[in-house]
Amino acid sequence: MSSNPDSYKAAWNARSATLSDGMAAVDGSADESVLAATGAFAAQQVRAALELLPSDRVFEIGCGVGRIGTQLAAALAGWHGIDIAENMAALARARVAAHPGATASAVDGPNLEPFADASMDKGYCVAVFIHMDKEDMVLYLREVARVLKPGGLFYFDHWNLSNPVGWQRFAYEVDQVGRGNPAERKDVARNQFCTPEELRLYVRAAGLELVFEDNSAHFAQMVARKPDHALAPGAPSPLPIDPARLTAGAAAAAARLAAVRADIAFSARCVQCFAECCEVLIGGVHPSTVLARWRAEPGPSPDVQLHIAWLEAIWHRHPHLWPPVAA
Ligand SMILES: C[S@@+](CC[C@H](N)C(=O)[O-])C[C@H]1O[C@@H](n2cnc3c(N)ncnc32)[C@H](O)[C@@H]1O
Repeated sequence: MSSNPDSYKAAWNARSATLSDGMAAVDGSADESVLAATGAFAAQQVRAALELLPSDRVFEIGCGVGRIGTQLAAALAGWHGIDIAENMAALARARVAAHPGATASAVDGPNLEPFADASMDKGYCVAVFIHMDKEDMVLYLREVARVLKPGGLFYFDHWNLSNPVGWQRFAYEVDQVGRGNPAERKDVARNQFCTPEELRLYVRAAGLELVFEDNSAHFAQMVARKPDHALAPGAPSPLPIDPARLTAGAAAAAARLAAVRADIAFSARCVQCFAECCEVLIGGVHPSTVLARWRAEPGPSPDVQLHIAWLEAIWHRHPHLWPPVAA
Protein backbone atom coordinates (compact mmCIF):
# COMPACT_ATOMS: atom_id res chain seq x y z
CA MET A 1 0.00 0.00 0.00
CA SER A 2 1.28 3.47 -0.80
CA SER A 3 2.03 5.60 2.24
CA ASN A 4 2.15 8.80 0.16
CA PRO A 5 -0.68 10.83 1.74
CA ASP A 6 -1.24 12.54 -1.61
CA SER A 7 -1.82 9.30 -3.53
CA TYR A 8 -5.19 8.01 -4.73
CA LYS A 9 -4.40 4.76 -2.96
CA ALA A 10 -3.81 6.30 0.47
CA ALA A 11 -6.82 8.61 0.12
CA TRP A 12 -9.24 5.82 -0.81
CA ASN A 13 -7.81 3.22 1.58
CA ALA A 14 -8.37 5.75 4.36
CA ARG A 15 -12.00 6.09 3.21
CA SER A 16 -12.57 2.32 3.29
CA ALA A 17 -10.97 1.09 6.52
CA THR A 18 -14.34 -0.44 7.51
CA LEU A 19 -17.37 -1.62 5.53
CA SER A 20 -19.39 1.28 6.88
CA ASP A 21 -16.71 3.78 5.76
CA GLY A 22 -16.47 2.12 2.35
CA MET A 23 -20.23 2.22 1.84
CA ALA A 24 -20.31 5.89 2.84
CA ALA A 25 -17.50 6.63 0.36
CA VAL A 26 -19.36 5.11 -2.59
CA ASP A 27 -22.87 6.52 -2.22
CA GLY A 28 -22.78 8.60 0.94
CA SER A 29 -25.37 6.50 2.76
CA ALA A 30 -23.56 3.78 4.80
CA ASP A 31 -26.90 1.97 4.78
CA GLU A 32 -27.19 -1.49 3.19
CA SER A 33 -30.75 -1.03 1.94
CA VAL A 34 -30.01 2.40 0.43
CA LEU A 35 -26.79 1.08 -1.11
CA ALA A 36 -28.79 -1.78 -2.65
CA ALA A 37 -31.33 0.69 -4.04
CA THR A 38 -28.78 3.11 -5.53
CA GLY A 39 -26.78 0.10 -6.77
CA ALA A 40 -29.85 -1.37 -8.49
CA PHE A 41 -30.51 1.99 -10.15
CA ALA A 42 -26.94 2.27 -11.50
CA ALA A 43 -26.87 -1.42 -12.49
CA GLN A 44 -30.01 -0.92 -14.56
CA GLN A 45 -28.27 1.87 -16.50
CA VAL A 46 -25.15 -0.28 -17.01
CA ARG A 47 -27.24 -3.28 -18.13
CA ALA A 48 -29.00 -1.19 -20.77
CA ALA A 49 -25.81 0.57 -21.92
CA LEU A 50 -23.83 -2.65 -22.32
CA GLU A 51 -26.62 -4.98 -23.46
CA LEU A 52 -25.24 -7.54 -20.99
CA LEU A 53 -25.41 -11.24 -21.88
CA PRO A 54 -25.01 -14.29 -19.60
CA SER A 55 -21.84 -15.23 -21.55
CA ASP A 56 -20.17 -11.84 -20.91
CA ARG A 57 -16.92 -11.34 -18.98
CA VAL A 58 -17.20 -7.82 -17.57
CA PHE A 59 -14.81 -5.54 -15.66
CA GLU A 60 -15.51 -2.51 -13.48
CA ILE A 61 -12.94 0.25 -12.97
CA GLY A 62 -13.16 1.57 -9.40
CA CYS A 63 -15.56 -1.07 -8.08
CA GLY A 64 -15.71 0.32 -4.54
CA VAL A 65 -17.54 -2.09 -2.21
CA GLY A 66 -19.22 -3.81 -5.18
CA ARG A 67 -22.36 -1.68 -5.01
CA ILE A 68 -23.03 -2.33 -8.72
CA GLY A 69 -21.08 -5.59 -9.10
CA THR A 70 -23.25 -7.38 -6.53
CA GLN A 71 -26.29 -6.49 -8.66
CA LEU A 72 -24.79 -7.75 -11.93
CA ALA A 73 -22.48 -10.66 -11.09
CA ALA A 74 -25.11 -13.43 -10.83
CA ALA A 75 -26.19 -12.92 -14.43
CA LEU A 76 -22.68 -12.89 -15.98
CA ALA A 77 -20.04 -15.48 -16.88
CA GLY A 78 -17.47 -13.31 -15.12
CA TRP A 79 -17.30 -10.04 -13.20
CA HIS A 80 -13.96 -8.57 -12.13
CA GLY A 81 -13.77 -5.31 -10.20
CA ILE A 82 -10.52 -3.42 -9.90
CA ASP A 83 -9.88 -0.57 -7.49
CA ILE A 84 -6.94 1.59 -6.51
CA ALA A 85 -7.68 0.87 -2.82
CA GLU A 86 -6.85 -2.56 -1.43
CA ASN A 87 -9.48 -2.02 1.27
CA MET A 88 -12.23 -1.38 -1.30
CA ALA A 89 -11.17 -4.38 -3.42
CA ALA A 90 -11.24 -6.63 -0.33
CA LEU A 91 -14.73 -5.41 0.62
CA ALA A 92 -15.99 -5.96 -2.92
CA ARG A 93 -14.37 -9.42 -3.09
CA ALA A 94 -16.15 -10.48 0.09
CA ARG A 95 -19.49 -9.12 -1.12
CA VAL A 96 -19.42 -10.93 -4.51
CA ALA A 97 -17.91 -14.15 -3.11
CA ALA A 98 -21.23 -16.01 -3.44
CA HIS A 99 -21.06 -15.68 -7.23
CA PRO A 100 -18.69 -18.10 -9.00
CA GLY A 101 -16.67 -16.13 -11.55
CA ALA A 102 -16.84 -12.87 -9.61
CA THR A 103 -13.85 -11.30 -7.89
CA ALA A 104 -12.08 -8.01 -7.26
CA SER A 105 -8.45 -6.94 -6.99
CA ALA A 106 -6.38 -3.83 -6.41
CA VAL A 107 -4.23 -2.09 -9.02
CA ASP A 108 -1.39 0.35 -8.42
CA GLY A 109 -2.23 2.95 -11.03
CA PRO A 110 -4.18 3.66 -14.18
CA ASN A 111 -3.79 0.19 -15.63
CA LEU A 112 -5.88 -2.91 -16.14
CA GLU A 113 -3.02 -5.34 -15.57
CA PRO A 114 -5.27 -8.16 -14.30
CA PHE A 115 -6.66 -8.47 -17.85
CA ALA A 116 -4.93 -9.83 -20.96
CA ASP A 117 -5.20 -8.06 -24.30
CA ALA A 118 -8.62 -8.49 -25.98
CA SER A 119 -9.86 -10.71 -23.16
CA MET A 120 -12.96 -8.86 -21.86
CA ASP A 121 -16.39 -8.52 -23.47
CA LYS A 122 -17.52 -5.34 -21.72
CA GLY A 123 -16.58 -2.90 -18.99
CA TYR A 124 -17.90 0.10 -17.07
CA CYS A 125 -16.82 2.84 -14.70
CA VAL A 126 -19.36 4.75 -12.57
CA ALA A 127 -18.55 7.72 -10.32
CA VAL A 128 -14.79 7.08 -10.58
CA PHE A 129 -13.34 9.16 -13.44
CA ILE A 130 -14.83 12.13 -11.55
CA HIS A 131 -12.26 11.48 -8.82
CA MET A 132 -9.05 11.52 -10.85
CA ASP A 133 -6.86 13.74 -12.99
CA LYS A 134 -7.66 13.73 -16.68
CA GLU A 135 -4.31 12.18 -17.60
CA ASP A 136 -5.24 9.13 -15.52
CA MET A 137 -8.68 8.89 -17.12
CA VAL A 138 -7.08 8.86 -20.58
CA LEU A 139 -4.58 6.21 -19.47
CA TYR A 140 -7.49 4.06 -18.27
CA LEU A 141 -9.31 4.57 -21.59
CA ARG A 142 -6.20 3.38 -23.44
CA GLU A 143 -6.22 0.30 -21.22
CA VAL A 144 -9.92 -0.21 -21.98
CA ALA A 145 -9.01 -0.22 -25.68
CA ARG A 146 -6.33 -2.83 -24.95
CA VAL A 147 -8.37 -5.28 -22.86
CA LEU A 148 -11.72 -5.20 -24.71
CA LYS A 149 -12.39 -7.72 -27.43
CA PRO A 150 -13.09 -6.10 -30.82
CA GLY A 151 -16.69 -4.91 -30.73
CA GLY A 152 -16.64 -4.76 -26.91
CA LEU A 153 -18.49 -1.91 -25.17
CA PHE A 154 -17.46 0.35 -22.29
CA TYR A 155 -19.88 2.58 -20.33
CA PHE A 156 -18.74 5.48 -18.12
CA ASP A 157 -19.97 8.71 -16.59
CA HIS A 158 -18.47 12.04 -15.55
CA TRP A 159 -19.67 15.26 -13.93
CA ASN A 160 -21.09 17.32 -16.79
CA LEU A 161 -19.96 20.96 -16.79
CA SER A 162 -22.31 21.84 -19.63
CA ASN A 163 -25.40 21.02 -17.54
CA PRO A 164 -26.62 23.81 -15.21
CA VAL A 165 -26.78 21.48 -12.19
CA GLY A 166 -23.35 20.05 -13.06
CA TRP A 167 -22.01 23.59 -13.26
CA GLN A 168 -23.59 24.50 -9.91
CA ARG A 169 -21.86 21.48 -8.35
CA PHE A 170 -18.52 22.63 -9.84
CA ALA A 171 -19.05 26.22 -8.66
CA TYR A 172 -19.44 24.84 -5.14
CA GLU A 173 -16.03 23.14 -5.41
CA VAL A 174 -14.50 26.36 -6.74
CA ASP A 175 -15.85 28.28 -3.73
CA GLN A 176 -14.54 25.60 -1.36
CA VAL A 177 -11.07 25.84 -2.88
CA GLY A 178 -11.31 29.63 -2.71
CA ARG A 179 -11.99 29.44 1.02
CA GLY A 180 -9.10 26.99 1.57
CA ASN A 181 -5.41 27.46 2.10
CA PRO A 182 -3.91 28.27 -1.33
CA ALA A 183 -0.56 26.84 -0.23
CA GLU A 184 -2.10 23.39 0.35
CA ARG A 185 -2.29 20.72 -2.29
CA LYS A 186 -5.88 19.90 -3.27
CA ASP A 187 -7.37 16.55 -2.17
CA VAL A 188 -6.39 13.94 -4.81
CA ALA A 189 -9.81 12.29 -4.43
CA ARG A 190 -11.79 15.53 -4.92
CA ASN A 191 -14.54 15.85 -7.51
CA GLN A 192 -13.37 16.90 -10.97
CA PHE A 193 -15.48 18.00 -13.92
CA CYS A 194 -15.51 17.73 -17.74
CA THR A 195 -17.40 18.96 -20.77
CA PRO A 196 -18.85 16.43 -23.23
CA GLU A 197 -16.45 17.80 -25.87
CA GLU A 198 -13.48 16.81 -23.73
CA LEU A 199 -14.87 13.35 -23.09
CA ARG A 200 -15.38 12.76 -26.81
CA LEU A 201 -11.75 13.71 -27.44
CA TYR A 202 -10.48 11.35 -24.74
CA VAL A 203 -12.56 8.40 -26.01
CA ARG A 204 -11.49 8.87 -29.59
CA ALA A 205 -7.84 9.55 -28.73
CA ALA A 206 -7.81 6.15 -26.99
CA GLY A 207 -8.75 4.50 -30.30
CA LEU A 208 -12.36 3.83 -29.27
CA GLU A 209 -15.51 4.83 -31.15
CA LEU A 210 -18.17 6.77 -29.30
CA VAL A 211 -21.51 5.02 -29.88
CA PHE A 212 -23.77 6.68 -27.27
CA GLU A 213 -23.81 9.84 -25.23
CA ASP A 214 -26.36 11.58 -23.08
CA ASN A 215 -25.53 15.00 -21.72
CA SER A 216 -28.93 16.03 -20.47
CA ALA A 217 -28.07 15.44 -16.80
CA HIS A 218 -25.50 16.60 -14.25
CA PHE A 219 -23.64 13.39 -15.18
CA ALA A 220 -22.54 12.96 -18.80
CA GLN A 221 -22.95 9.31 -19.84
CA MET A 222 -21.04 7.70 -22.67
CA VAL A 223 -20.63 4.30 -24.29
CA ALA A 224 -17.46 3.61 -26.28
CA ARG A 225 -16.87 0.63 -28.57
CA LYS A 226 -13.61 -1.05 -29.50
CA PRO A 227 -13.51 -1.10 -33.30
CA ASP A 228 -13.33 -4.42 -35.10
CA HIS A 229 -10.10 -3.22 -36.75
CA ALA A 230 -7.73 -0.46 -35.62
CA LEU A 231 -8.95 2.94 -36.83
CA ALA A 232 -6.89 4.99 -39.27
CA PRO A 233 -4.70 7.42 -37.30
CA GLY A 234 -5.85 11.04 -37.19
CA ALA A 235 -6.67 13.88 -34.83
CA PRO A 236 -9.55 13.00 -32.44
CA SER A 237 -12.76 14.97 -32.90
CA PRO A 238 -14.72 16.80 -30.19
CA LEU A 239 -17.89 16.69 -32.32
CA PRO A 240 -21.00 14.67 -31.37
CA ILE A 241 -21.59 11.20 -32.81
CA ASP A 242 -22.15 11.23 -36.56
CA PRO A 243 -23.52 7.81 -37.61
CA ALA A 244 -22.24 8.38 -41.16
CA ARG A 245 -18.65 8.50 -39.86
CA LEU A 246 -18.84 5.36 -37.70
CA THR A 247 -17.62 1.94 -38.78
CA ALA A 248 -20.44 -0.48 -39.63
CA GLY A 249 -20.29 -2.30 -36.26
CA ALA A 250 -20.29 0.98 -34.36
CA ALA A 251 -23.19 2.38 -36.38
CA ALA A 252 -25.25 -0.73 -35.54
CA ALA A 253 -24.38 -0.41 -31.83
CA ALA A 254 -25.23 3.32 -31.91
CA ALA A 255 -28.64 2.57 -33.43
CA ARG A 256 -29.39 -0.10 -30.80
CA LEU A 257 -28.35 2.19 -27.95
CA ALA A 258 -30.35 5.13 -29.29
CA ALA A 259 -33.44 2.92 -29.04
CA VAL A 260 -32.86 2.31 -25.31
CA ARG A 261 -31.80 5.86 -24.39
CA ALA A 262 -34.57 6.19 -21.80
CA ASP A 263 -33.23 3.14 -19.92
CA ILE A 264 -29.68 4.53 -19.79
CA ALA A 265 -30.20 8.27 -19.27
CA PHE A 266 -31.24 10.00 -16.04
CA SER A 267 -34.86 11.14 -16.17
CA ALA A 268 -35.66 14.85 -15.95
CA ARG A 269 -37.22 14.15 -12.52
CA CYS A 270 -34.03 12.49 -11.36
CA VAL A 271 -31.99 15.54 -12.37
CA GLN A 272 -34.47 17.76 -10.55
CA CYS A 273 -34.23 15.56 -7.43
CA PHE A 274 -30.44 15.87 -7.51
CA ALA A 275 -30.76 19.65 -7.83
CA GLU A 276 -33.05 19.63 -4.78
CA CYS A 277 -30.48 17.53 -2.89
CA CYS A 278 -27.92 20.22 -3.76
CA GLU A 279 -30.20 22.77 -2.04
CA VAL A 280 -29.50 20.74 1.11
CA LEU A 281 -25.90 19.63 0.59
CA ILE A 282 -24.54 22.93 -0.68
CA GLY A 283 -27.35 25.44 -0.33
CA GLY A 284 -27.95 25.32 3.43
CA VAL A 285 -31.58 24.14 3.22
CA HIS A 286 -32.62 21.70 5.98
CA PRO A 287 -33.29 18.15 4.63
CA SER A 288 -36.70 18.12 6.32
CA THR A 289 -37.85 20.89 3.94
CA VAL A 290 -37.03 18.93 0.80
CA LEU A 291 -38.24 15.63 2.27
CA ALA A 292 -41.58 17.19 3.21
CA ARG A 293 -41.95 18.55 -0.33
CA TRP A 294 -41.27 15.14 -1.87
CA ARG A 295 -43.50 13.25 0.58
CA ALA A 296 -46.37 15.60 -0.25
CA GLU A 297 -46.28 14.51 -3.90
CA PRO A 298 -49.19 12.23 -4.77
CA GLY A 299 -47.75 8.73 -5.39
CA PRO A 300 -44.05 9.71 -5.45
CA SER A 301 -42.28 8.25 -8.52
CA PRO A 302 -39.51 5.63 -8.06
CA ASP A 303 -36.95 8.41 -8.70
CA VAL A 304 -38.42 10.47 -5.86
CA GLN A 305 -38.66 7.45 -3.54
CA LEU A 306 -34.98 6.65 -4.16
CA HIS A 307 -33.98 10.23 -3.35
CA ILE A 308 -36.14 10.22 -0.19
CA ALA A 309 -34.33 7.09 1.07
CA TRP A 310 -30.93 8.53 0.12
CA LEU A 311 -31.47 11.97 1.68
CA GLU A 312 -32.84 10.41 4.87
CA ALA A 313 -29.69 8.26 5.10
CA ILE A 314 -27.43 11.28 4.55
CA TRP A 315 -29.27 13.20 7.28
CA HIS A 316 -29.05 10.20 9.61
CA ARG A 317 -25.25 10.06 9.11
CA HIS A 318 -24.76 13.79 9.77
CA PRO A 319 -27.13 14.76 12.61
CA HIS A 320 -24.67 17.45 13.71
CA LEU A 321 -25.16 19.28 10.37
CA TRP A 322 -28.95 19.18 10.50
CA PRO A 323 -30.49 18.93 13.98
CA PRO A 324 -33.75 16.96 14.28
CA VAL A 325 -36.89 19.03 13.70
CA ALA A 326 -39.97 18.96 15.91
CA ALA A 327 -42.65 16.61 14.55
C1 LIG B 1 -17.40 7.06 -5.45
S1 LIG B 1 -16.66 5.48 -5.43
C2 LIG B 1 -17.61 4.60 -6.66
C3 LIG B 1 -17.53 3.12 -6.50
C4 LIG B 1 -18.36 2.31 -7.50
N1 LIG B 1 -17.97 2.56 -8.85
C5 LIG B 1 -19.83 2.61 -7.31
O1 LIG B 1 -20.40 3.32 -8.13
O2 LIG B 1 -20.38 2.14 -6.33
C6 LIG B 1 -15.10 5.76 -6.23
C7 LIG B 1 -14.23 4.50 -6.29
O3 LIG B 1 -13.15 4.72 -7.20
C8 LIG B 1 -11.96 4.24 -6.65
N2 LIG B 1 -10.85 4.98 -7.25
C9 LIG B 1 -10.51 6.27 -7.02
N3 LIG B 1 -9.45 6.61 -7.78
C10 LIG B 1 -9.14 5.51 -8.51
C11 LIG B 1 -8.13 5.23 -9.47
N4 LIG B 1 -7.23 6.17 -9.83
N5 LIG B 1 -8.08 4.00 -10.02
C12 LIG B 1 -8.99 3.05 -9.64
N6 LIG B 1 -9.94 3.25 -8.73
C13 LIG B 1 -10.03 4.48 -8.18
C14 LIG B 1 -12.12 4.48 -5.16
O4 LIG B 1 -11.26 3.69 -4.37
C15 LIG B 1 -13.58 4.15 -4.96
O5 LIG B 1 -13.76 2.79 -4.70
